This record gives sequence, structure tokens and C-alpha cells, in this order.
Amino acid sequence: MKFDAMKKLVVLTGAGMSAESGLRTFRDMGGLWEEHDVYEVASPGGWHRDRALVLRFYNERRKQLLETTPNKGHFGLVELEREFEVSIVTQNVDDLHERAGSSCILHLHGELRKSRSTEDPELVYDIEGWKLEEGDLCEKGSQLRPHVVWFGEAVPAIEEAAKIVSAADIFVIIGTSMNVYPAAGLINYVPPTAPIYVIDPNEVAIAGHSRIRVIRKNAGEGVQLLMEEIRNE
Ligand code: APR
Repeated sequence: MKFDAMKKLVVLTGAGMSAESGLRTFRDMGGLWEEHDVYEVASPGGWHRDRALVLRFYNERRKQLLETTPNKGHFGLVELEREFEVSIVTQNVDDLHERAGSSCILHLHGELRKSRSTEDPELVYDIEGWKLEEGDLCEKGSQLRPHVVWFGEAVPAIEEAAKIVSAADIFVIIGTSMNVYPAAGLINYVPPTAPIYVIDPNEVAIAGHSRIRVIRKNAGEGVQLLMEEIRNE
């Protein structure tokens, strides 16, 4: 009896994945970077200048996250695990893929519901509730910071992500403007034989890739359409 191994479906997600859960994206109209100066709230310099402001920004994000739930798109990716070996590489710091039930998730830009020691990056903790405040310390006595990757910082998970992407049979991009590197560069690791799908209601500028199949929809509806299309791959 021949055993057909499941195909590897690798999905790169961004803020648009969680938009239908009510979380704002960054660069759309009304996006977070319209209202907040990214270098003040999401960079090492900003942290140095005003820790309280940075903590407040992420506390607000965390509070909203606790009030929301995964959407149809997140659940659709879980359903795809019945037919594919699904790996999710997400730029999102929310935990909606986890809460939907996906089994293989790599967070490129960290996790909102975790904190990290400013002295020892190995010390990572779960945050109870939504508040991380000045004076919250790691076990070595140093201030805790949000466990997120800020602008100007390295992305430690990028090598593992590149490895996952280079094993893809099918690659899917959902809800990211592909503006931020090194995440956006992951597309260059997709094997030449793998089709690339893009689910986004707006045009995403991905230059030089002729294999792209665009599903110009929101994540929820787009993942449903994707399911129909890739069953025949
Ligand atoms: N469904 C799918 N896509 C959507 C939806 C939706 N309902 N609504 C908006 N989008 C799309 C937008 O058209 C856009 O292409 O989601 C994308 C969001 O892009 P960005 O706001 O740039 O978010 P993202 O690409 O995830 O940002 C990358 O930048 O500042 C950071 O660290 C942060 O991880 C983030 C990184």
C-alpha cells in the first residue's frame, strides 16, 4: 500500500489575519502607525526615552487582545491540518492562531502575552492579565519588557522560519503588506516548484514573482476559497 505523505503548507501571516477579530493593522488607513510614532513605542530608543509610554502602548494592545477571539480565517487554517501538514510563520504578536488550535506556529516578532528580562533575554515569562508595569522585575531583579521584536532589533527566529519556508510544497501569504524585513524576504526561500497564494483585500507589492495567485479577499473568506483551490494541487 502506498502512503501519500501530506503536503507541506506553509503560511506567512500578518496583521490582516487578525483584522476580522477587531485588531488594527499597522499600515492601513486608521492603522496603528498612523496614531503612534513607531520609533517612540516600538524601538530600543523609545524604550530608553520613555518606558512608561512603551509599556502603555503594549498594555493597550494586550487588553484588546484579551477581549477578542480568533476569526474564521484562523479556524480555517486549523481545518486545513486535516489535509496538509500546516506550518504557520506569523509576524503577529497576538495568540489567535494558538487559541484557534493551530499546532505548528512560529512567532517571528515575539508574543504580546509574554515578558522578557532586560538583563537576560533567556528569561521569558507569561503575563497574567494585561498589565506589564514599571517595577515588574525578572528573577534577577531587572525590569521586564514586552517580549516583542522592535524596529532595529534582530529577529532571532528568522533562520528557523527560512528553513520551514524552504520545505514548503505550497506557500500562502495572508494579511501582510510585506513591508518589513527580514520577514518579507522569506518569499525568496519558497522552492521554485511551490505555488504561492496571496490572500489580501488590497494589492500587495511582491515584485518579481510570476507564480503568485491572488485571492483578493479578507482572511476569513479568503481561507475558505484557498481550501477549495488547493485541494486540487
Ligand atoms: N484580511 C486580510 N488582509 C487584510 C485584512 C483582512 N480583513 N485587512 C487588512 N488586510 C491587509 C492589508 O491590506 C495589508 O496588506 O493586511 C495587511 C496589513 O499590513 P501591515 O499593517 O503592514 O501589517 P504587517 O504586514 O503584519 O506588518 C508587519 O510591521 O510594525 C510591524 O512588527 C509589526 O509585525 C508587524 C510588521
